Formats: sequence, C-alpha cells, structure tokens
Amino acid sequence: MATREIERAREIQGDFADVRLPEIPQVPGMIKPSEARYLYWLASQAYLGHGAVVELGSFLGASAMHLAAGLRDGGLGGELHCFDRFLWDRDHAAKFDLGLAVGADYRALFEANVRKVYDGVRAHSVELREITWSRGPVELLFLDAPKKFTELEATLTTFAPYLEPGEAILAFQDFAHAPSYAVALVIAGLGERLELTHVVAGGSTAGFTLREPLPRDARTWRELDFSRWPRERVIERFETLAARIRPDDVRRKLAPGLPMALWDLGAKDEAVARMSALEFDDALQRHWERMAKGPLYARYEGLFLARGLARPTTGRDKNALTRFVRGLFGGKRRG
Ligand SMILES: C[S@@+](CC[C@H](N)C(=O)[O-])C[C@H]1O[C@@H](n2cnc3c(N)ncnc32)[C@H](O)[C@@H]1O
Repeated sequence: MATREIERAREIQGDFADVRLPEIPQVPGMIKPSEARYLYWLASQAYLGHGAVVELGSFLGASAMHLAAGLRDGGLGGELHCFDRFLWDRDHAAKFDLGLAVGADYRALFEANVRKVYDGVRAHSVELREITWSRGPVELLFLDAPKKFTELEATLTTFAPYLEPGEAILAFQDFAHAPSYAVALVIAGLGERLELTHVVAGGSTAGFTLREPLPRDARTWRELDFSRWPRERVIERFETLAARIRPDDVRRKLAPGLPMALWDLGAKDEAVARMSALEFDDALQRHWERMAKGPLYARYEGLFLARGLARPTTGRDKNALTRFVRGLFGGKRRG
C-alpha cells in the first residue's frame, strides 16, 4: 500500500507536533495551532487526489490557507471549494476589530488571503441550507459552520452522494466545543458509518473516515434527530463516543456538551447534577469564564451557576460574587 494510504488510515490522537508548517501568512481566524498543523497534514499527506477538498465555514481564510498550502505542497494539486455567507456579523465584530460594518461582504478579503498561498481555491457565497454541489467526488470535507442538527442534516445530505466510503474524510472543527454538542450527537447517531480517525489535542477538531454512505432520506435523518431520542439513548451515545477520545483536554472540553444537551431537552436537574460533577482544569475553567460573558449565559444560566460562574458584573463585585456562588454550589475543580 502506498505511504499516503497507510498514513491516512492510522488513528492519530495528538497535537500533530511533528508536522512542519511552511510560512503561511497569519490572518485573523478561529483555529488553534494544532488544528492548523492537522489541516496542512491532511491536505499534504493524507489527501489522495481522488476528489475535491471542501470547506464549510471559511471566515477570513485561516483554515482554508492551511488546506490550500497542503494541496500546493502535497504535489497532487486539487481543488479547494470554500462555502460561507462571507458577511460580517455581530459575533465577528465582537471578536475582531477590522473596521468592517456589520453586514459587509468580506469575501474579497478571504480570496486575497488564500490566493497568496494557492490559486486552486473557489469561494462560494451562500447560506448553508442553500449549498448545491455537482462537481464530482469530495475527498476531504472540513466542516466549520454547521453546528446545529438542521445544518448538519442539510449539508451532509447535500454532500452524501459525493463522499466515497473508504476514501472520504470528514473533519468537524467544533466536535469538542460543548455548545456545539449537536455535532457529537449526530456523529454518535451515524454509528458505524463514520470511523474516528483523528483527534486534535489542543483544539476541538476530530476527523472521521467514511465507512458506509451517509443517509440522504428524511426518514433516517428523523431517526438521527436526538431531540426525539429517549434521554437514556442521548446519554449512552454521547458517553460511548466521548470515551474514545484520548487527549485529556479534548475529552474534558467535550464533556459539558452532555449536560448542555440534557438542559436543552428539558432534563434540567440531571443536567445541573452532571455539570457539577465534571472535572474542569484551569484552561477549561477560563474558557467557561469567557463564555459566561457572552450570549450563552442567558440560555444555560443554571449550568454556569453549577460551575460557580455567575454573570460577571464589574470589578471587585465580580470576584466576590463568583467566590460566593462557587461556595454555594461547589463545582468540582481540578488544577
Ligand atoms: C467558526 S467560523 C469559521 C472559521 C474559519 N474556519 C477559520 O479558520 O477562521 C464560521 C463561519 O461560518 C459562517 N457561517 C455560519 N453560519 C452560516 C450559514 N448558516 N451559512 C453560511 N455561512 C455560515 C460564518 O460566516 C463564519 O465565517
């Protein structure tokens, strides 16, 4: 078997530290260094040249530039198709100050960034649910925009006919981002169709090799809709998948996804009990402290409180209040 075939079939759960990145210009983005190395490795070492590389959710091109550089350096060429609405929104404005007005079209910035690296890139300005595809096989599908069940159903159904079992790799950027627990639950529901192949330590991405065709019919997708599952099945499927994750940081980051799912499904007491019992290290605690300042707080207040995180007020009040609530609810914390 050729080196690439052996390399891509090997399960890797780590930080891809041995991947040497070429010079790639820095642009504002949402991927971690280990994820950048993984994407470059995927396109340069694991890609067989049997189909297009497709990215859903491109922003200003940070991830696309690493896929693009991988295609350029891997020696097989290949097309990179990037789908995004490419419209500056309030979330973007809250994270990055580029002087763009909310609603501004930033696709030209994306194209200028990625073309510096590789010109085999095509950008498509489109809503996820309106994506169409008729360009033949897709070998690598990197998903960094569909996070909800309906978005995953729509996009995976669109690409299903073009993903070849045994060849296609699907990498989900927010696999371990707890508020995006729908990603893990859809993957868990897909069962044997997807084989866990890569987990990126230091990030939230996991890659799966397609083993059986993805469903395209509404009936199967209804069965995959975890909001219709009994609570026990949600717990069992989530925990079975989570138990396969070896890097501690990724497993810990994913774990609050189950309480969040239970909370949204109405099992609030159980969600709070499970949330309090989780082990948070300092990095995860800081991550949740940052989330407590954002819009998720209102939706999951009981879960934040279960971790001793009250909505921060100002200055000294904030620290005193957090200490007070932590004392009241006493979430376990490990340094
Ligand atoms: C997490 S960001 C992608 C980050 C990017 N991969 C990087 O490396 O920086 C998600 C992107 O998905 C896009 N997006 C989110 N929801 C979308 C939708 N419903 N339709 C089209 N694009 C969407 C956003 O515009 C945003 O650029």
